[in-house]
Amino acid sequence: MSGHDQPIPMTARKSGPLRGVAEVPGDKSISHRALILGALSVGETHVTGLLEGQDVLDTAKAMRAFGAEVLRHGPGIWSVHGVGVGGFAEPQDVIDCGNSGTGVRLIMGCMATSPITATFTGDASLRKRPMGRVTDPLALFGARAYGRQGGRLPMTIVGAANPVPVRYTVPMPSAQVKSAVLLAGLNAPGETVVIEKEPTRDHSERMLAGFGARIQTEITPEGRIITLQGQPELKAQKVAVPRDPSSAAFPVCAALIVEGSDILVPGVSQSLTRNGLFITLVEMGADIAFENPREEGGEPVADLRVRFSTLSGIEVPSDRAASMIDEFPVLSVVAACANGTTIMRGVKELRVKESDRIDAMARGLEACGVRVEEDEDTLIVHGMGPNGVPGGATTLSHLDHRIAMSFLVLGLASRKPISVDDGSPIATSFPVFEPLMAAMGATISRSNR
Ligand code: S3P
Repeated sequence: MSGHDQPIPMTARKSGPLRGVAEVPGDKSISHRALILGALSVGETHVTGLLEGQDVLDTAKAMRAFGAEVLRHGPGIWSVHGVGVGGFAEPQDVIDCGNSGTGVRLIMGCMATSPITATFTGDASLRKRPMGRVTDPLALFGARAYGRQGGRLPMTIVGAANPVPVRYTVPMPSAQVKSAVLLAGLNAPGETVVIEKEPTRDHSERMLAGFGARIQTEITPEGRIITLQGQPELKAQKVAVPRDPSSAAFPVCAALIVEGSDILVPGVSQSLTRNGLFITLVEMGADIAFENPREEGGEPVADLRVRFSTLSGIEVPSDRAASMIDEFPVLSVVAACANGTTIMRGVKELRVKESDRIDAMARGLEACGVRVEEDEDTLIVHGMGPNGVPGGATTLSHLDHRIAMSFLVLGLASRKPISVDDGSPIATSFPVFEPLMAAMGATISRSNR
């Protein structure tokens, strides 16, 4: 949702063994990029498996506002008739990106090197998030940004009429910032170079190459150096969006903590830029079999057979954080059900997500009877073992889909039910979360306790 809907209180109760097949929807990151690159291409891009979550629907609407024709033909089946690089029209109204940081930051990038002006806003969560991390590099291309204090939305971007190419080292591990710079570089003459010290998800680089851009990545001791030739003609493509590993995380973690569970989660990405959670769970002692490894939609995938497991706390190395950045909330839930302590370091980026996720998880876990320690860059969860989490609390989702789903997963294994004040944000990334979990035997209802 975009913060306009009524709150939906939800409650999860201790469940019997989860069984069955959890077919999670399309990848959110790849869905945004398919629509955006489709809009920047010449010809008609066909997309299958598109995530029809609110975040992606808001990006579809934005692409229409910039002049692309975006049509839905059936569940997950969409087409985009693009306007070509440099072909964006000036939108007639404010662009509302709802809850989506990825949407707004990528779209700011791809309009910033065209001679047009656009004003962006979002819901109460997105209006708190920092945009300076994107507008700073966009200023180097010649774009100007006028926003609220602290670089917050609503914000107007005046695109550069005569953009110059840029060489930019991304100061924090962020695929959104990297992607915004690359998308801006598309309409600048010459070479745009982006350097990232820590690898982050590489969907933009892969997809830009797939749409015909000249883009190269060099791995050096300095980090990854990505070089893009400006002003290519992008050609429309067929894009098959693979399932979202960040959504798969919820049924996988639920099965690990609900006694007797045994489920199959097909087609989970094993991309090295996205698989940190699964590596971590295996290190904690999770019984996960990676079956039938293959390629789908250009991504390495496997079917995950997941059984209830007795887990042990571990220290997650900080250089793994970027490959599981969206999975720390649900990992902290699993950590609460493990024996011993789990230490998550190098996680300060969690403070500027849809909510301050360190604070949201720490306060909610404490309310559920779990001991937690935190500092700016660290979250430590003292596990209570299987069947050890008391629960019996109402937690706050802070307009954050992953916080809401994490506490509902915990409620399936805690002694007393766990409620969330507002489950409506779940629709931004995982609109079928409730029926999918119910079909496996999870008891989640739309009510206060
Ligand atoms: C995303 C990048 C990550 C991630 C977000 C999706 C993307 O954000 O948290 O959910 O699609 O590029 P950052 O770039 O802020 O790390």
